[in-house]
Amino acid sequence: MRIRQFPQWAGFLGSMALILASAHAQEQSTAQLTPETNVETSNADKIHLQELERANASVKAAAPLAQADPLRPAFHITAEANWINDPNGPIYHDGEYHLFFQHNPYGDAWGNMSWGHVVSEDLVHWKHLPIALTPTPGSYDKDGIFSGCCVINDGVPTIIYTGVEDGVQRQCIATSRDGMRTWTKHPANPVIDAPPVENTTGFRDPYVWEQDGVWYMALGTGIRDQGGAAFLYRSEDLVSWEYLHLLDSGFGNMWECPNFFPIEDKHVLVVAPYNILRYAVGSYKNDRFERESPWRLLCLSDNRGFYASHTQLDAQGRRIVWGWITGPGSTGHPWNGMIALPRVVTLSKDNRLSVAPLPELAQLRGGHVAFSDILIEKDSPYVLEGVSGDAIEIDLTFDIGASQSVGLDVLCSPDGEEKTRIVFDNYALTLAAGDQKGPFQLAPGETKMRLQVYVDRSVVEVFANGRENIICRTYPARTDSKQVRLFSSGDRSKVPQVDVWQLGSIWKP
Ligand code: FRU
Repeated sequence: MRIRQFPQWAGFLGSMALILASAHAQEQSTAQLTPETNVETSNADKIHLQELERANASVKAAAPLAQADPLRPAFHITAEANWINDPNGPIYHDGEYHLFFQHNPYGDAWGNMSWGHVVSEDLVHWKHLPIALTPTPGSYDKDGIFSGCCVINDGVPTIIYTGVEDGVQRQCIATSRDGMRTWTKHPANPVIDAPPVENTTGFRDPYVWEQDGVWYMALGTGIRDQGGAAFLYRSEDLVSWEYLHLLDSGFGNMWECPNFFPIEDKHVLVVAPYNILRYAVGSYKNDRFERESPWRLLCLSDNRGFYASHTQLDAQGRRIVWGWITGPGSTGHPWNGMIALPRVVTLSKDNRLSVAPLPELAQLRGGHVAFSDILIEKDSPYVLEGVSGDAIEIDLTFDIGASQSVGLDVLCSPDGEEKTRIVFDNYALTLAAGDQKGPFQLAPGETKMRLQVYVDRSVVEVFANGRENIICRTYPARTDSKQVRLFSSGDRSKVPQVDVWQLGSIWKP
C-alpha cells in the first residue's frame, strides 16, 4: 500500500531525462570550486541559503498552531510544524547526537523534501535546529532532498542523500565545517549519476558505512522482473563511487531505505518494501551478504506505524534504530508524522533481533503510582485508580495463567466508551495495539507477559517481553479519555506489579 504520492515515475522517464539532467549537472559542477578552495560562497550556495531562510520562516510561522494541538506528542520527535517522514542520518559526533528527517517546511502533506534537524546530548532531550538541506531551484536536487545518511570523513561531517530532479534520482553529498550547523552541497554533485543496471524502479536512500578504511554504500532500488534490491558501492573519498554488485534482492518491487549493519558476528539487512519493514540476519564476507534467517518483522506495525528505519551506534556502542510513524494531528493544526522512540536492538538466539526501548527514556519520568498483587477477574476490567494521563509510561507484567487474552485499555474514558486497546491473545497468538496487529507468541517456558507501554497523546508504543514491539496512532475525541484499565478474558489473571509514570517533554528550550 502506498501511503502518499511522490514521483515514482523516475524509471519511466527513461534515459532521455537522465542524459539531459546529467549534462546539466556536469555543466554546473565544473563551474564551481571545491569547498576547500572556495573563498566566496558560490551562487548555488547563496540560492540554497535563501531557500533555507524561506523554509525556516515557513516552519516558524506554522509552529504556534501546530504546537497548540492537544494531540501533539510530548516525548516523540516531531518537526516544529508541518510534515515529517523518514529519520535520516542519525549520528553521534563530538558529544552530540544529530538526527535529521524528511521534512516539508511548507505544509502538512508530503512535498518539498528537505532535511529537518534535531540535536541532543543524551538521546532523550532534544532541540530543534534550523533545516539542514533544502532543494536548490534549477539544480540536480530541485525536486527533493530525499533520504540518506551522515558519516564523518576525515573529521568532516558529510551527508549522503538522494537528489531528485524531474523525477530522476541521483546520489549527492554535502559537508559541514561548523559542527554540523550548516551544510554546503558538494560541487561534484551528483556523485552517483545513474543506476548501474537498466529497468530500475527507484534509485535512492544511500546508507554508508566505513570498513577497513573504505566507504561502502547500500542503495535502495528495485529491478523489474527481479524485485526489490539493494546495490552495493565502494568509495575511497565519498565522491567517486565504484559499483560492486547487488548486496541482496528479492521480494516486492522496490526496497526503500536499506540499513546494513554488523551485530555481534553477524550482519543485518533491513529494508522498507513500501509495506511492513523486514530484516534478515546473515554473514558478510568479501563484500557478499549471505542471508541465514528468513525475512522477519522489525516491528509488528505496518508502514503506518513504523517505516523507513535508520540505525546508528550510540556513545556506548549500542545499535539504535529509528523509524517514522505516520499520521496527522487534529484538524487545523499543521503537523503530520513523528519519529518513533529510540530502540536498542540486540541479537538473540535463532538469528532474531530483540527490540527494547532505550533505558535512558526513564529520565523523562515524573509522578509515579505503583500497584501490586492485582487480581483481574475474568471479563471484568480493573481500573487503575488515581491514574490519569495522556503522556505516561506503564510497565506491567501479567501472569497469564489460563487466560485467553490479557491487556489494557489506555486513553480510556471513565465510562469505558472511548479507549485504545492493547491486547495479547494467547490463543490467536497475536499482539494488537489500536488498529495494528501482528504475530506474537510466548517463548517455550514463558508464562508471563511484560508490557512496557508509552502513551503519548495520539500515539501508543508497546514493547512486549523485551523483544517485540508494536505502534499505533490513536485519536481520542474526549478530553477525559485518560484512564488505564486492565482486563483478562477466558480466565482471571494476576498482575504482580504495575508502575505508572507521568512522562515529561523531550524538548529543551
Ligand atoms: C521512504 C521514502 C524514501 C525517500 C523518501 C522521500 O518513506 O519514500 O524512499 O527517499 O521517503 O521522502
